Amino acid sequence: MYEYATRKREDIMIDLRGRDFLKLLDFTTEEIEYLIEVSQNLKNKKKNKEPHDYLKGKNIALIFEKDSTRTRCAFEVGAYDLGMNVTYLGPTGSQMGKKETIADTARVLTTMYDGIEYRGFEQNIVEELAKYATVPVWNGLTNEFHPTQMLADMLTIKEEFGTLKGLNFTYLGDARNNVANSLMVACAKLGLNFTCCAPKDLFPEEKLVNTCKEIAKENGTTITLTENPIEGTKDANVLYTDVWVSMGEPMELWEERINKLKPYQVNKKLIENANENAIFLHCLPSFHNIDTKIGKEIYEKYGLTEMEVTDEVFESPKSKVFEEAENRLHTIKAVMYETLK
Ligand code: CP
Ligand code: NVA
Repeated sequence: MYEYATRKREDIMIDLRGRDFLKLLDFTTEEIEYLIEVSQNLKNKKKNKEPHDYLKGKNIALIFEKDSTRTRCAFEVGAYDLGMNVTYLGPTGSQMGKKETIADTARVLTTMYDGIEYRGFEQNIVEELAKYATVPVWNGLTNEFHPTQMLADMLTIKEEFGTLKGLNFTYLGDARNNVANSLMVACAKLGLNFTCCAPKDLFPEEKLVNTCKEIAKENGTTITLTENPIEGTKDANVLYTDVWVSMGEPMELWEERINKLKPYQVNKKLIENANENAIFLHCLPSFHNIDTKIGKEIYEKYGLTEMEVTDEVFESPKSKVFEEAENRLHTIKAVMYETLK
């Protein structure tokens, strides 16, 4: 048996077997901290080339209605390292959503698989999938939340600073998207002060802000919303941004978002305004140059050579984005292991 089987922490037995992983709001602080610790342990095992195929013989299905590099690869490699077999169901090719309902798909996959990952559109789709599946369902990104990303981000921050508690975290850019929403929840749960730096109409929804404020209060930390990027980045330990237009949003939004979000681009001035030990994180993919198809199109249309982050910051030693990307593997592996063991 794996030595992290279950863990007693301050009289709370942490046992995530059979649980879905749909959003961080469903998990306690202790459970999230525990998953980060398991990720660290699994990362050490991988680095030391210690086999950890504890879930040999199990099968999982990966449903991707949107594109992915990191999340798909992390689920696949994580599953292989744990000894599992994987079926990938891409945006085309399965019956789901076209000829078959989510509920029916869930009941079919449940008969063949031990776990199901879903990346796609509304959060209620993954919630519906979980309602009808009797095996764990993992959210690989929806319009509203991206919970597996949070574990990797927090592991990266912990590796960098040795702790999470009391750090100042600033998110800049489109603060209504899945990553921003999830970061606000993650910071509130894990004891980081969260500052959102964005134009008012791109602040996260009020209801979620209020929920997070309550959680943060219990943990003695703060949630701050500001339109001023200089104020918002002062004393920050972590600067985080994401794309200005997310998957599933129309291309026509680019012009409006560029105009609104240009002042929130993470550049040298903002990094220098933050704490001297500040790091830069980004869930990726990122538009930091014009070497991509969309990057080129934006350049030709709007004349911008970089968007949410400058190439200078992205390529600087302060940028930990590839460490963060690697941590997607170890953290997603921990989620699969803990829910399926
Ligand atoms: N950060 C992230 O989810 O990347 P992918 O879209 O490549 O999975
Ligand atoms: N907000 C981005 C995150 C990609 C990982 C999107 O949804 O496209």
